[in-house]
Amino acid sequence: MKPTPIDSSIVKEKIDASGLASIGRSSIREIRTLINEIEEASGEKFIRMEMGIPGLPAAKIGLEAEKAALDNGCASFYPDIQGIPELKSEISRFVKAFLDLDVNPGGCIPCTGSTSGSFVSFLVAGRMNPDKDTVLFLDPGFPVHKQQLNVIGIKHRSLDVYNYRGEKLRAALEEILSEGNISSILYSNPNNPTWICFTDTELKIIGELATKYDVVVMEDLAYFTMDFRKDYSIPNQPPFQPTVGKYTDNYLLLISSSKAFSYAGQRIGMIAISDRLFQREVPGLSRFYTQKTFGRAMIYGAAYAVSAGVTHSAQYGLAALLKATNEATYRFIDEVKIYGERAKKMKKYFIDNGFSIVYDKDEDEPIADGFYFTVAYPGMDGVQLIEELLYYGISAISLANTGSERIEGIRACVSLVADERLPELEQRLQVFHENHPVS
Ligand SMILES: Cc1ncc(COP(=O)(O)O)c(C=O)c1O
Repeated sequence: MKPTPIDSSIVKEKIDASGLASIGRSSIREIRTLINEIEEASGEKFIRMEMGIPGLPAAKIGLEAEKAALDNGCASFYPDIQGIPELKSEISRFVKAFLDLDVNPGGCIPCTGSTSGSFVSFLVAGRMNPDKDTVLFLDPGFPVHKQQLNVIGIKHRSLDVYNYRGEKLRAALEEILSEGNISSILYSNPNNPTWICFTDTELKIIGELATKYDVVVMEDLAYFTMDFRKDYSIPNQPPFQPTVGKYTDNYLLLISSSKAFSYAGQRIGMIAISDRLFQREVPGLSRFYTQKTFGRAMIYGAAYAVSAGVTHSAQYGLAALLKATNEATYRFIDEVKIYGERAKKMKKYFIDNGFSIVYDKDEDEPIADGFYFTVAYPGMDGVQLIEELLYYGISAISLANTGSERIEGIRACVSLVADERLPELEQRLQVFHENHPVS
């Protein structure tokens, strides 16, 4: 055995001291704390792939607009609960420019990060009909969404799409929806943690079945237009980011500013509700809200109860960013495509050293290079792999709590791996491979 890049006695000591029953099953925050401690004790820096956080500075246009709004006194006023008018109209323009969907500004609502957008959406879409008491996740997915449902007390179930890509999705999805208890479906596209992207065939199936079984689709576009295989960067010009909104009017979109504009710290995101869903009268909602109209229950019922509006200055910041993007004077895709370039290199180092990509295809096409990818190593499951990689100074998370059935897999996030660390990643993986020969 070659010596591991991080002193194995230090790694072992810190693992034992952490009190964690299983490192591979621990939460991201727990893994983060453990790694910080190993780094401090060993003096060695890890290749940090565990956290899905932006690795770029926040977009300046937003910061400048926020500063101006604060100087103009916005901090002392409650913002309108439905969002400031200029932001609502820019969200509507953004959705038209990049998805080619028409959504009235009235249905475009800011939220305190897409995380709160999904929370208020569950509070309404998950409670429309007492017989429909379960939310379906097209998994793997973002664990916080399941936690949100646990907090509210709404049931959820999961369909790992690994074996159901393309036309195969129809039968698998229909089998679940035909049971009649699903209120809504949520998936992210591109997907966290796997970076699979649903094809138009799949989005059409989801949309058609959502209409047939009256299920609300929540399309989480946290990584908006970041399938870099296509150029979605030019507003109001095809190709457009594929969306379920082309195939059903029973949808709402959750759009994050955290990754697209590296704006995670400001906690602002957007919900865009289709015109038909926004206006829909839902008698079941009167059990919880004074208003039965879906959109009104969302704004004056759920969003009001959760945060009574969204930080005023952040709304001005996001409005300015969207305006510049809609008018093509700012191209956020140029900033974030570095994630794709980096993923391409990193995936190659993993593959060259005995790893394989777990979620590797969108139907027949290899997945895009982007913010995340999933890997596995022969003879180990994901939980073992996470722990073993600590000795090599590499951190990631297992797919165990993402709704994935591929227990061999781990998720790597590329955002915090600076280009100058890439040679080190390659060397560490080479040592790992030598120490774990594959027969
Ligand atoms: C799929 C997915 N949805 C939602 C979010 C949360 O986004 P926000 O920072 O806007 O709350 C993330 C963040 O990592 C994500 O990966």
